[in-house]
Amino acid sequence: MPIDAANPVPPNFQRVAGPDQIPPHVPKELIRSVGLTMGPDFLAAPHDYMKKLHDEQPPIYYDVSPMGNMWHFIKHEDCLFGLRHPEFFSNEGATPFPRDPNDYFYFIPIEIDPPHHRKYRNIVDPLFCPAGVKQLEGLIRQRANDLLDEVEAEHARTGECEFTTAFGRPLPVSVFLDIMGLPQDMRDTFVEWAVQLLHSNTREDMADAMQKITVYLKGAIAEKKAKPDDGVVSLIANAAPDGVPLSDPEIFGFVCFLFIGGLDTVFATLNNIWLHLARDPELRAETINRMETDPDKVVEELLRRWSVTFSGRVVEQDVEVRGVQLKKGERVTFILPAANFDPEVFPDPLKVDYDRPRKTILAFTVGVHSCMGGHLARLELKICLQEWLKRIPNFSVKPGTHIEYRPGGVIGPEFLPLTW
Ligand code: HEM
Repeated sequence: MPIDAANPVPPNFQRVAGPDQIPPHVPKELIRSVGLTMGPDFLAAPHDYMKKLHDEQPPIYYDVSPMGNMWHFIKHEDCLFGLRHPEFFSNEGATPFPRDPNDYFYFIPIEIDPPHHRKYRNIVDPLFCPAGVKQLEGLIRQRANDLLDEVEAEHARTGECEFTTAFGRPLPVSVFLDIMGLPQDMRDTFVEWAVQLLHSNTREDMADAMQKITVYLKGAIAEKKAKPDDGVVSLIANAAPDGVPLSDPEIFGFVCFLFIGGLDTVFATLNNIWLHLARDPELRAETINRMETDPDKVVEELLRRWSVTFSGRVVEQDVEVRGVQLKKGERVTFILPAANFDPEVFPDPLKVDYDRPRKTILAFTVGVHSCMGGHLARLELKICLQEWLKRIPNFSVKPGTHIEYRPGGVIGPEFLPLTW
């Protein structure tokens, strides 16, 4: 029975967590506890850890964790299969963010299975398609250069620059606010809320962030209903697909998911890439060179090498993959960064190779739920590389820095002090 997003009800899923709750059909030899997103090996060097999964784990295993037990898929082929078959792997109830059961809503479009999902994408896809985002190019370049002025000023004053707070986080948040039609003075608050929601150690902290985001976004939606403009919040707030206006929970669930999907992912991507450019002068020189001739190849390979997030699903009907039985209601995570390191598809996967044969990368997933902001994110990354490398071609991590990653579903260094 498909869910009715206009009249949402909290799903009736039981959380299955810990070694006492392993279903009897799971073969003992496939049970693991790999510490994804929070174990010490993951937090020490997350992308090396994703590569090692292929050396140490079977292609599909059952991970037992206090945060929830679930199947992990690490092979490129298996992730493609799962992501392309929503009839087996559903998005309903697959999102981990807490919500008030008395004021429930679905995250749209991510929690809506096809065919209903298309109705929502149709509202905003024209803005997020390649031609739509191309129109933002001048604006993004301007925002990048405004921040670069501040970056250079900070460096002149202090001899260093903390990349994540000076550029990596504010740039995508600024662009996001422009697109959404929200005021720029919310920039630093949005950064703070996004970090609290996605990298808290407790569900209480996540719920607190969610509460603050909710109050703000509901206010913004009410304003845009009263006074429409051409930003995305207004477009969603006033949408009437097939002549039927969206309900309040649909509008809120859509705008709120854009906040969740469109901020931390982009800044984590920038922070990862800049960390590695700062550490590797040869990679930097080659990147500067290749940005002149093949910017799109550069962007695609960097997105493969430092992809930042995962796809969660719930098994919709019993299915067998690689001889492993998965039962209705069980949770699955497609480990996208691991799929991007599958050595059968991307030989020598940790190497950045701008001339790799073109293959589907999974940074943005594939299938009906492939990232709505993928073209925007690619454009932002391209412009940031072009503008930064033009003005600051040589930079390195401040000596003595310990790079820290926080637990969470989006992978990126917490702080990145640079010098040049
Ligand atoms: C480098 C940056 C980004 C990365 C790595 C990324 C990654 C992803 C991934 C992996 C998914 C699929 C999740 C799943 O299958 O469960 C997704 C979906 C989505 N992303 Fe992104 N994203 C990025 C930027 C953005 C931006 C800038 C926006 C919007 C402003 C955005 C909006 C969305 C939306 C709305 C969805 C849900 C699509 C659907 O369900 O049809 N993302 N993203």
